Amino acid sequence: MAVASQVAAMLAGGSVIRKLFTEGEEMRKLHGRDRVYDFTLGNPDVEPPPEFAAALHAILEESIPNKHGYMASAGLMETREFVAESVTASRGVPVTPDLVTMTVGAGSALSLAFAVTVNPGDRVIANAPAFVSYANYLSVHRGVLDLVPGREDFSLDLAGIESRLGPDVAAILVNSPNNPSGAIYSAESLQALAAILERASVRTGRRIYLISDEPYREIVYDELGVPSPFSFYDHSILCYSWSKSLSIPGERIGYSAIHPRAEDAGLLARGMTAMTQNMGYTNAPALMQRAVARLGTVSVPVEAYRRRRDLLAAGLRESGYDFILPRGAFYLFPKAPGGDDVAFCTALKDERILAVPGTGFGMPGWFRLSYCVGENSIRDSLPGFSRARARFPADA
Ligand SMILES: Cc1ncc(COP(=O)(O)O)c(C=O)c1O
Repeated sequence: MAVASQVAAMLAGGSVIRKLFTEGEEMRKLHGRDRVYDFTLGNPDVEPPPEFAAALHAILEESIPNKHGYMASAGLMETREFVAESVTASRGVPVTPDLVTMTVGAGSALSLAFAVTVNPGDRVIANAPAFVSYANYLSVHRGVLDLVPGREDFSLDLAGIESRLGPDVAAILVNSPNNPSGAIYSAESLQALAAILERASVRTGRRIYLISDEPYREIVYDELGVPSPFSFYDHSILCYSWSKSLSIPGERIGYSAIHPRAEDAGLLARGMTAMTQNMGYTNAPALMQRAVARLGTVSVPVEAYRRRRDLLAAGLRESGYDFILPRGAFYLFPKAPGGDDVAFCTALKDERILAVPGTGFGMPGWFRLSYCVGENSIRDSLPGFSRARARFPADA
């Protein structure tokens, strides 16, 4: 076999979302773009705030030495200073620029975090349901994702997590607001998690790190502030991107920040910066680094997402779907009527509705709907949701 075994195994496993994307393209060709209701992709369609284009124009017009050139691997100092200040202010953790690495979105920040914490064969624990790509990012570093099912309301099952912490656990990965459940973890549960990690690190003789994945921090509906897991445990690595907060996922800009009191903080930061080179990207995009530093706290208004969430939730509730209203991110994660998520997503396809089975998120029996689609599309899809629901009357 010419293809490397790791890649061959990954391809053989197949990606549910990739398959759905191909099927969606075929359906769009057959029925027309407007008649296929694609709820699969978390690809924000709300326009970036106008300040984003203004910042880009200003940067392009200004005379800046080496504007488009290589820079230090960790990124531009002015941007790292901005990130350090904003993390210090928003998380109450005194991060300094030397602990910040600018990255190619949150995905590469996560991959760097795994690179510096995971040895081959190590486990990383995450609360299920969890983002589909975690296991893939981790497999590159020969680590294994170990999913602990969350509680009925999608909160952290602290006892379940504690029971899984052994000497082969490198880290716990926490994503709040959560993709796909929309859950936001409470300060109390994060405090309790920190105590558990502290105890387990002593018991196993190995420091367990916490990796906090926060790309949806600004996409929240009813909260005054989202407790950041990074604020509660010293041995933490924060991974962030502007993909969702500025609606610019294709521009690939994010960062990682190490908690200043983390064990081996300096080594972790130097390792992450060095690994940007080893993983094949030398710098995060220069133009984007300059832009985000100028934009400060600007982010997309969440009103459009809130209207879609409420419209979709009202329609689904009326048809008898069972779900918890998401408090953040832009996904709804209902129970699959009949209990078989793959069968139910197939039934939705008959209505030209595309959804992702929960199996991909480690939660069979549920399915994910991304409401990165216009209100008209949501409205037009509701009769199809209702008909599909009616085909599974057993749990009506
Ligand atoms: C929970 C979560 N983490 C990380 C990512 C990756 O983000 P990025 O596109 O910035 O790499 C995503 C993307 O959808 C996500 O949903």
